Amino acid sequence: MFRYQNNRLDCDGVDLEQIAREAGTPCYVYSARAILDAYRDYDAAFGSLPHMVCYAVKANSTLAILSLLARAGSGFDIVSGGELHRVLAAGGDPSRVVFSGVGKTATEIEFALEKGVGNFNSESEGELALIDEVAGRMGKVAHFSLRVNPDVDAVTHPYISTGLRDHKFGIDIEVAEAVYHRARGFKHLRASGVSCHIGSQILDYAPILEAAGKVLALVSRLQSAGLPIDHVDLGGGLGIAYQAADQPPAIQKFIADLSARIEESGLRVMVEPGRSIVGNAGVLLTRVLYRKKSPSKEFVIVDAAMNDLIRPSLYEAHHEIMPLRHAPELNRSVVDVVGPVCESGDFLALDRDLPDIQPGEYIALGSAGAYGFVMASNYNSRPRPAEVLVENGTWRIVRRRETYDDLIRGESA
Ligand code: LLP
Repeated sequence: MFRYQNNRLDCDGVDLEQIAREAGTPCYVYSARAILDAYRDYDAAFGSLPHMVCYAVKANSTLAILSLLARAGSGFDIVSGGELHRVLAAGGDPSRVVFSGVGKTATEIEFALEKGVGNFNSESEGELALIDEVAGRMGKVAHFSLRVNPDVDAVTHPYISTGLRDHKFGIDIEVAEAVYHRARGFKHLRASGVSCHIGSQILDYAPILEAAGKVLALVSRLQSAGLPIDHVDLGGGLGIAYQAADQPPAIQKFIADLSARIEESGLRVMVEPGRSIVGNAGVLLTRVLYRKKSPSKEFVIVDAAMNDLIRPSLYEAHHEIMPLRHAPELNRSVVDVVGPVCESGDFLALDRDLPDIQPGEYIALGSAGAYGFVMASNYNSRPRPAEVLVENGTWRIVRRRETYDDLIRGESA
């Protein structure tokens, strides 16, 4: 994990300034240990309950991270053919993959069936019909769950809340039963589960338990009607602490409470955590380029921008700013930390009380392991950053920084 030792920020004993100097900035750094600890917390908390932890690849799909998790025995939750390609390249087992998402194409469905993906989480009858057709053509039977929309408020940022009736996600839980019955007409489909996911960065998991209760009630009705449902998939969504005031529940406690609800049903449980596995296992390192004062504000201009980490601009998300050298003697000022991109919305922190770090010095943006690099773009023709993995007391670059040639690859003038 990330902490100060002798006033220098390190990751599991490896000095971050050394990484910043050698790998360059901006640069994401991840702790292998933190990722594996969080995965194992999930896995162990289920105890003897049959379960599968399917890491949500969208949170961070870097091969080295997928490979760490695959070796630890993780399953994967994917939402595109591209994510499946990554999971396979990282050595993941396709039979331990669930394919979620609102709009899978025929090409993606065919790719998934060809590779032997374990289960489709489907969100519409139109998509079920397409999966049936593709499976039929390939002489296969596809296992599916319907992702139901339980109409439960996850109490989180509106952009990442998904479980209310007017969201585009899932099939209304009231009509799902009829859809399962109609789906019996599809010869190449087998209904094997019910899934739901109500949102992300959830700090009070009572709504997830409420959704689980509704899902279990639906399963027992389906089973009574003779459908071979053998698992529930309760999605991801557990929040993390982005700042001291956030008090997320411990993974163990969340899973113990969830397991207690499910035990009696005899069902296998799946969860799809993303952020709670990688979020606090990563930081984004950046270098201060300039300081500048306007009549009303002071700006710290750094070499990372909204294209590298979009969460502050998009969700007004808070990421802690940690100077790599802790210097308690420095004066402090209230500043905006901004990047070089040509948008007023390009900021990493607003009105933050920080020590007066000078050009040439480095800072880390905390909790950047989830939805950081994966949401990075080449806006302003900025090469995407390098990524580093710290493992067993050493570090290595697991994705090199993009070059100018990478920026124009595939284009013709
Ligand atoms: N399963 C499904 C079906 C999902 O849609 C998601 C996230 C997850 C699992 C994983 O959720 P997690 O455990 O990571 O909360 N870009 C946003 C987050 C979007 C989440 C989308 N779905 C952010 O930066 O906060």
